[in-house]
Amino acid sequence: MIYNHHIKSFVIKIGLVVGLLISHDAWSLNAPIVAKKGLVVTASQIASDVGALILNRGGNAIDSAVATAFALAVTHPTAGNIGGGGFLVYRTSKGAAYTYDFRETAPAGASADMWLEQGQYSFNRHHRSHLSVGIPGTVAGLFMAWQSHGSLPWDVLIQPAIKLARKGFPVSHQLAASLERALPRFSDHPASMAQFSNSGKPYKPGEILEQKDLGRTLERIAKHGPEGFYTGKTAELIVREMVRGSGLITLEDLASYQAKRRDPIVGTYRGYEVISMAPPSSGGVTLIQMLNVLEGFPISEYGYGSAAYMHIAVEAMRRAFLDRAKYLGDPDFYLGSRISELASKNYADNQRSNINEEKASKSELHQIRPHRESEDTTHLSIVDKERNAVSLTYTLEWGYGSGIVVPGAGFLLNNEMGDFNAVPGLTDKRGLIGTKPNLAEPNKRMLSSMTPTILAKGGELFMVTGAPGGRTIINTVLETIVNVVDFEMNAQAAVDAARFHHQWFPDKIFVEKQGFSPDTLALLDSKGHVLMERERQGRSYTIVVNSVDNRLEAGVDNRLRDAGVGTHD
Ligand code: DON
Repeated sequence: MIYNHHIKSFVIKIGLVVGLLISHDAWSLNAPIVAKKGLVVTASQIASDVGALILNRGGNAIDSAVATAFALAVTHPTAGNIGGGGFLVYRTSKGAAYTYDFRETAPAGASADMWLEQGQYSFNRHHRSHLSVGIPGTVAGLFMAWQSHGSLPWDVLIQPAIKLARKGFPVSHQLAASLERALPRFSDHPASMAQFSNSGKPYKPGEILEQKDLGRTLERIAKHGPEGFYTGKTAELIVREMVRGSGLITLEDLASYQAKRRDPIVGTYRGYEVISMAPPSSGGVTLIQMLNVLEGFPISEYGYGSAAYMHIAVEAMRRAFLDRAKYLGDPDFYLGSRISELASKNYADNQRSNINEEKASKSELHQIRPHRESEDTTHLSIVDKERNAVSLTYTLEWGYGSGIVVPGAGFLLNNEMGDFNAVPGLTDKRGLIGTKPNLAEPNKRMLSSMTPTILAKGGELFMVTGAPGGRTIINTVLETIVNVVDFEMNAQAAVDAARFHHQWFPDKIFVEKQGFSPDTLALLDSKGHVLMERERQGRSYTIVVNSVDNRLEAGVDNRLRDAGVGTHD
C-alpha cells in the first residue's frame, strides 16, 4: 500500500505539471463533451439531438426525457420502446427527488408455474413465447412523470418521434449489424420481418428505415395520452396478437395497468447523497449496499485497476448479490424484503467484518445461480439549465424483446416475464433461481436490475448515471461512481475505464478483455478468484457537474458506436 501511495503522489506531481502546461481541461486523455446549460446522453445520436432540441425550446429535463424516450423507441429499436418498461429517477434543482416505476406487470392469468410444459421447465415459454410478454409500462410511466413535472405540451414532445417513424431515418452500421443478427428471430413473425427487414433482406447502412404503423400508434398516444395505448385501437391490436400467439394479455390487463410513483432509495457515499431506484428494481438497494461496504476501505489509495481494490469490490458484490437473490422482489407482493436494513451502514459494517483482504470468499452452491440475461436495455441521462436531472433506464429485456412486432401497431413487445424466477423451489447449477420473492403472480412486477442513479453533494447536483446490461448494470453503475468519486476520473474516463463483474454465482470475476494488467489478474488469481474474460460489460451514460466552473461534462460510452450527446449551450 505504501508503494501504491508513493506511485500515486509521483503521478499526481507529473499530472500537475502537465496540467499547468496544458490547462485543466486538457489534462485527461479522455476528454468529456461539455455544455454550459444542458446535456442529453443516450444510445442514439438522433435521439440525443431530439432531447437537446426540447431543452433548446425551453423544455425542462422531464420534457426532454419524454421526447428522448419516444425518439429512442424509433431510432434504437433494440431497447428503446413503448412495448416495454423501466424506471425514472428525477431530482429537481431544489433537491426534491422522485422515482417513477413503469415496470411491466404479469397478466391476471399468470402463475408461478406457467413456464412448465408437461411438468418440465421450458426456456422457450419463459423467454421466447407470447407468454413471455408483460403488460408494457413505458407510456403510462412517461405520462405520469410528465403530468407531475413537465412544462411543454405532451403532444409536442412526441412529434419528433412521430416524424422519425413516418419519414424514416438512415440505418447506422451498428443498427444494420444488430438487425441482421436478429432476423432469424423476426422470421417467425411476419409483422416483425416486414418492419425490420428490407423485403426479407437485412437493411444496409445508410438505407432509410420507415415505421409507418409505429408512427400511427405514436400519433394516437400524442393525441389521447396513455388511453391511446392502453385502450382503443392499440390495445385491440395487442390483444389480437396475444390471441394469435396464445398469450395471456387481455384488454382488461391493459386498461388496468398503473405506473407508480415510489419513494427513492437514498444512501450516502463519502459525503455524496446517492438517489436511486427502490424495488421492484434491485438496482438501488444493491448499489447502496456495495457502496456502504466500500466506504470502509481506502480504495482511492489502492488505485483504479489494483488487485486490492478489485478484490474488495468483488467481495462487496458477492455479498450484495446473494442478498438480492434471497430477499428482493415486487414490494407490493413480497413483504419479506428488508430494504432499509440491507441499505443501512450497520449492515455493511457487519458484512465488511467478514471480508478477508488477502483471500477470496466462496459462494456456496446451495445458494443461488442466476438465469441467463441479455444485455439489451438502454439508458438516458439528462440535465437541464436549472440543474433538474433525469436518470431513466428502460428495456424490452432481450434485444428487440420477444421479437414480436404487434401487427398494425408497429412496436415490439417485451419478453420481460423472463425476469421472473423460472420454477418454484428449483434452484440449480445451470442457473435457475426458485426463491419466493420473485415468482410470477397475477399483476406482479418482475424483479429488475436497472439502476438509474443521481448523486448530489451539499444540496447541489453532482452526477447522473445509469447503464444497460442485465445484472451487470448494478456493477457498471457502482464502478462508474467509484471511478469519479474515489479515483477522480472525469466523466469520459470513468465511462471508458475497463469494468469487472461478480454476481455471487457463477463464482467468477468477469473482466473486460485486455482491460486489466496481467499482473493485477495474477494477483487476483493468487487470492483465490476465478477469472473469466468477456468482450464488453454494459455501457454507461454519465453526466458529471464540474465543481470548478459548474459546467456539465458527458461521458459517452464508445462500446456502442451509435451513442451520442445532445448539448444546450
Ligand atoms: O430489468 C432487468 O434487469 C433486465 N430485464 C434488464 C435487461 C437488460 O439489461 C438487457 N440489456 N442490456
